[in-house]
Amino acid sequence: VSALDLTESERRMREESDDALTDRVVKSFAGASSPRERAVLESLVRHLHGFIREATLTDDEWRAGIDFLTRTGHTTNECRQEFILLSDILGASMLTVRVNQTEDPAATDSTVFGPFYLSASPGIELGDALAQGAPGRPLFVRGTVCGPSGEPISGARLEVWGADEEGLYDVQHEGQRVANRGHLFADDSGNFTFWSIHPVAYSIPADGPVGELLRSAERSPMRPAHLHFVVSARGWRTLVTHLFVAGDRYLGSDAEFGVVDSLVVPFVEHPATEPPPGRHVDGPWSSVAYDFVLAPSADGLETAFGKLPTPL
Ligand code: BEZ
Ligand code: FE
Repeated sequence: VSALDLTESERRMREESDDALTDRVVKSFAGASSPRERAVLESLVRHLHGFIREATLTDDEWRAGIDFLTRTGHTTNECRQEFILLSDILGASMLTVRVNQTEDPAATDSTVFGPFYLSASPGIELGDALAQGAPGRPLFVRGTVCGPSGEPISGARLEVWGADEEGLYDVQHEGQRVANRGHLFADDSGNFTFWSIHPVAYSIPADGPVGELLRSAERSPMRPAHLHFVVSARGWRTLVTHLFVAGDRYLGSDAEFGVVDSLVVPFVEHPATEPPPGRHVDGPWSSVAYDFVLAPSADGLETAFGKLPTPL
């Protein structure tokens, strides 16, 4: 009997027994180890059941979903996290960032972490270069780290990582090279300067199930050009963010939904004839300036992703 052939009262009885099933599953988690775990599981079950009801999910669709998740698991290994990629392209990563974002209106906006952060990165001095031979147009980065009232955060730690001009992170190349990533500390006035590489737009890994899903929906796998930052200091909330290159053609279609207007900034291009600050570079170079504003926090180590693995 299809749902269409049911009388109104039969349909209501069926809905009531579907609701009772949902309630029974929710109750089955009553012994969860904490009230929070119970609440999260209840919400998960209610929304999952609601999705199945609303979509009237067929057996074949349920099986296709299980098959997709199985392949996502098989594509995941210690170098590749296809589930995070799936969360990203569904907007779940960015929504998690947003619901955990500080409410301090002056604080710099957060965005997604991405999979290419490494907790161990080389330390550099102020004014030094991160690139370590990674190819690309040199980029001079300067700014400050301060609190919401403009108070400088002396010694704030900045973790930085970016793709090279081929759109690849160091960890995506063969071998163990570390390039265009590192950390540095702001000076006593919260100021920092360093050299990196002018970011380019790149494709997220699209040769797995997530790439298949994007292609089947005719969605672009591209991320607009950006540089990643984690900015932290004891007593301040850790900020996970990017700076995006103004004018990038993919700003409106980021595969990860990570673009926030306040993080889109001009990356100024300078000709080879213009001498760059503090360093000789061959050829044209770029520069960007940004002042990061942290929100106060009890311990300064909390992020939307839990405790940062790098001790301060
Ligand atoms: C990134 O921004 O580094 C990134 C985010 C998601 C997937 C791939 C890369
Ligand atoms: Fe990235």
